[in-house]
Amino acid sequence: MMKAFILDRYKKKDALRFGDMPEPTLRDDDVLVEIHAAGLNVLDSKIRDGEFKLILPYRPPFTLGHDVAGTVVRIGSKVRRFKLGDEVYARPRDGRIGTFAEYITVNEVDMALKPKTLGMEEAASIPLVGLTAWQALVELAELKKGQKVLIHAGSGGVGTLAIQLAKHLGATVATTTSTANVELVRSLGADVIIDYKKQDFEKVLSGYDVALNSLGGDTLQNRSAC
Ligand SMILES: NC(=O)c1ccc[n+]([C@@H]2O[C@H](COP(=O)([O-])OP(=O)(O)OC[C@H]3O[C@@H](n4cnc5c(N)ncnc54)[C@H](OP(=O)(O)O)[C@@H]3O)[C@@H](O)[C@H]2O)c1
Repeated sequence: MMKAFILDRYKKKDALRFGDMPEPTLRDDDVLVEIHAAGLNVLDSKIRDGEFKLILPYRPPFTLGHDVAGTVVRIGSKVRRFKLGDEVYARPRDGRIGTFAEYITVNEVDMALKPKTLGMEEAASIPLVGLTAWQALVELAELKKGQKVLIHAGSGGVGTLAIQLAKHLGATVATTTSTANVELVRSLGADVIIDYKKQDFEKVLSGYDVALNSLGGDTLQNRSAC
């Protein structure tokens, strides 16, 4: 058995229970990770609240958690990319989550070596928001050098990664944020900063190639910046 934070039933704002769960089973192409840090993502709270029951039908009791950094302590017989002692980080695939625990098994294709420049806590904050930003900007929008991109909610988990990724790709970045986080998004590289408490982005911006919106329908409807 191992210690874990367990969801016993779907309920808004309910606390997870700290208790015992069976150690996960290692498949041939899995890596067993001793968990040093786990990221807390909006998706975890939405699953806990029951908002994802139709899309991700996890049956309680189960262990929540989508982001992990830790050390490889066992490998399956077909694992080729990792060895014992490797420091890794990952977003386990849907159906195999559970990073709020002592151990997790992750398919090796869902895992990467942790950059040496990052601590465990820093690394555990990246996978899910990083993959979201990558899927949106690189795979869907195919953002190119020289393009202009509007990233809403630049101070959030997705936004902070998206600003840095868009700058890395050579885009000009505008972002929306509250007054308290203006300096944060500036430090991440944002070129144009809209304080949504004081300005309407659609009155300030025009000619944008791409918009990454995580704020919901009303903001999505407002396309005048493009
Ligand atoms: N996290 C993920 O990996 C992921 C993946 C897929 C989809 N999503 C979805 O994306 C959304 C954001 O996720 P997240 O993890 O980035 O959330 P988060 O870390 O909680 O950040 C949300 C941000 O929204 C900002 N915000 C609130 N009202 C705003 C407004 N009117 N204009 C601009 N910014 C505003 C807040 O910034 P201020 O404090 O500066 O107001 C806050 O930093 C959620 O709906 C989530 O379901 C997230």
